[in-house]
Amino acid sequence: MVNTKIIRQRESLPVFPYRQEIVDAIKNEPLLVVIGETGSGKTTQIPQYILESFPEYRLIGVTQPRRIAAITVANRVSEEHGSRLGDDIGYCIRFDDCTSSRTRLKYMTDGVLLREATIDPRLGHYDAIIVDEAHERTLETDVLFGLLKETHRLRPELKILVMSATLNVEKFSDFFNSCPIFVIPGRTYDVAINHHRDAKISSLKSTYVQRSVETALYIHTQEPPGDILVFLTGQNEIEKACRDLEDLDRDLNYKTDVKYYEDVKGLVIYPIYATLETMEQKAIFDDPPRYTRKVVFATNVAQTSVTIPGIKYVIDSGFVKQKTYDPTTGMDALLVVPISQAAATQRAGRAGRTASGQAFRLYSRESYEQMEADTVPEIQRSSLLGTVLSLKKMGINDIINFEFIDPPDPAMVKNALKQLFLLEAIDDTGKLTTLGNEMSIFPLSPFLSRVLIASARQYECSREVVIIVAMLSVEEIFITPRNVEKQMDADEKRKEFYHPSGDHMMLLNIFEKFRDSGYGRDWCRDKYFNYRALSMAKSIRDQLRELMEKHDLPLVSCRLKNYQVKDDGRQRKKRRNSYQDVKYNVETMLESFSSSYYINLAKRHPHRPVFYHYASATGPGSESIDSNSSLLALHISPTSALHPDNKVVRVDDLDWVTYHSVLYTNKALMKVVSKVKLEWVQERLGLFKKLAVANLDGSYGKSKSENNMHGNTDEDNDNKVDSVMIDAQE
Ligand code: CDP
Ligand code: MG
Repeated sequence: MVNTKIIRQRESLPVFPYRQEIVDAIKNEPLLVVIGETGSGKTTQIPQYILESFPEYRLIGVTQPRRIAAITVANRVSEEHGSRLGDDIGYCIRFDDCTSSRTRLKYMTDGVLLREATIDPRLGHYDAIIVDEAHERTLETDVLFGLLKETHRLRPELKILVMSATLNVEKFSDFFNSCPIFVIPGRTYDVAINHHRDAKISSLKSTYVQRSVETALYIHTQEPPGDILVFLTGQNEIEKACRDLEDLDRDLNYKTDVKYYEDVKGLVIYPIYATLETMEQKAIFDDPPRYTRKVVFATNVAQTSVTIPGIKYVIDSGFVKQKTYDPTTGMDALLVVPISQAAATQRAGRAGRTASGQAFRLYSRESYEQMEADTVPEIQRSSLLGTVLSLKKMGINDIINFEFIDPPDPAMVKNALKQLFLLEAIDDTGKLTTLGNEMSIFPLSPFLSRVLIASARQYECSREVVIIVAMLSVEEIFITPRNVEKQMDADEKRKEFYHPSGDHMMLLNIFEKFRDSGYGRDWCRDKYFNYRALSMAKSIRDQLRELMEKHDLPLVSCRLKNYQVKDDGRQRKKRRNSYQDVKYNVETMLESFSSSYYINLAKRHPHRPVFYHYASATGPGSESIDSNSSLLALHISPTSALHPDNKVVRVDDLDWVTYHSVLYTNKALMKVVSKVKLEWVQERLGLFKKLAVANLDGSYGKSKSENNMHGNTDEDNDNKVDSVMIDAQE
């Protein structure tokens, strides 16, 4: 049932008067760029206009840079359309496909469409493709642009629409054969910008959370009614800010402290970051109760992806958490960095959507003027490992000369090629190997794909390793309670999952006990685990297993025989398990991980509990660990079983470890760490030497691998390559 309130809402959006013009433009133009202010109705309305006006279109695809946006928008649109999610309108993100054979409008991440395009460059299922939020310039969107240009040559009848907030759109039009640009006239109101008198952005890094809270309190007590949106960078600080403001609010004497007391008698506070839990609080999108003021602490997701109505005040911390290539580890890290001027303008604009408003920048005007004009596209600042592998798989070898809107740095392409060589996905001439070809079966980072294949083909432990890989592919599984007592309880309970070899086995332990509980929600609550994340891990395990079966990768268990048959006289015979694990052959599992993660090998300092990356500690030209103090010191994350405080192992017993990712706080913390033996990786380390003589630069076009464009069409998971960060949701 479509209700009249929804119809009225749809008709009140700035895009509505242009409905017919937009439909006509799409009818006449195969390529079109549409721009309009955030909140004008591009994402929710234009796909519906196409759905309603072109009944002959079989499938319309709309890409979103964020998984969370794909889900919430599909939800909203199916509600507007009066259908059930997954029927006419659905979404598809990596490992979560909510579409059916009836689906005609599919919201998906740009990664999902990219993967579909690598399998079928003609995108034969679709009659229209909309690349939405193009201004975000994610790595996947940028690669898609290049591929879509080719698709347009192959299928000129396919409608391609690029939608963007008002930033740099000429660039998109220029790229797509100077196609027309359709402008949705904005309905924005004045926003008064208040800069901080003298605060330099560089000095704000440690204080911006506290200052944001103080500024929110200032607005609340001194300014007329109107809701507040605060831009911070991640989950932890957002939760802290919510708590701190709640505390300050509790101490207010409204009658004496609040200037507009007659109209403002209370405060409601919400966090919003990119997890479903926060997006599902529908109340965020509603008006707050009468005489109260709403304050929303948000990540960048509120900058252009979601629109929170009623915002009159914006507080801009000046920072964002951004994917950034880390040359030390060769992986992407999420770093808190200053925003660009364009982002600052977008943020301020959120205050002027329905009436005039005010923006409070925590930094000075001078700092604003020194900011970069535009945000650097992700393709120029992130690891290209997965991208290069996908392009190679499609037979595109000349990556440097691939048609990009903004080409990546050749040095980054070279880094990706080096890593692919170390993973044995390409040979020393840059040609895709059989293994490399097989690695693109999985919608996983090349690192994890390699591990899965090794566990199946070489180490005979794939039944267990697939679980660990699934656990590494979900968001944070540990819940950090706010309450101190509960925090201690959580720490205590975590101990039962520790394993002396480290965190990979801890993840396996957790999953198995979750399974033994019947995948119980109550069990998760009791142990302080995120039920949604663990359920997702189960689903991912199932999907990965299916892919393995389909591609004849054997599922074998490394469960020890002597464990099952306790009285068996031969029980000790086959055991080569130095961890005294009674259940599994732990070594083979860790060897599987070492097949990729030997690239993340670190050695402990002889006298201190810090580690140094193998390649930098022993690589060509570097000094020995003892004498070289300029090397980056890696610390074991406090959440790791191997952290000295957890007393699972003595620090002296640690020598070599591998890690899954590095998180930068005030230190570089290794996350998901396990003990390894040098002998397991010795042979692979030889690849570092071969790398030095491999012919991987400047000769990308050399290999003659045939066009391999038509792979398997049944896979529709995305190839988000950034999943090397376990806490990517921040
Ligand atoms: O894409 P664009 O920024 O132009 O706008 P949109 O995302 O289509 O949003 C249009 C309107 O729908 C906004 O006023 C949003 O507040 C509203 N909306 C909503 O109420 N709930 C959602 N889940 C998504 C959008
Ligand atoms: Mg939008």
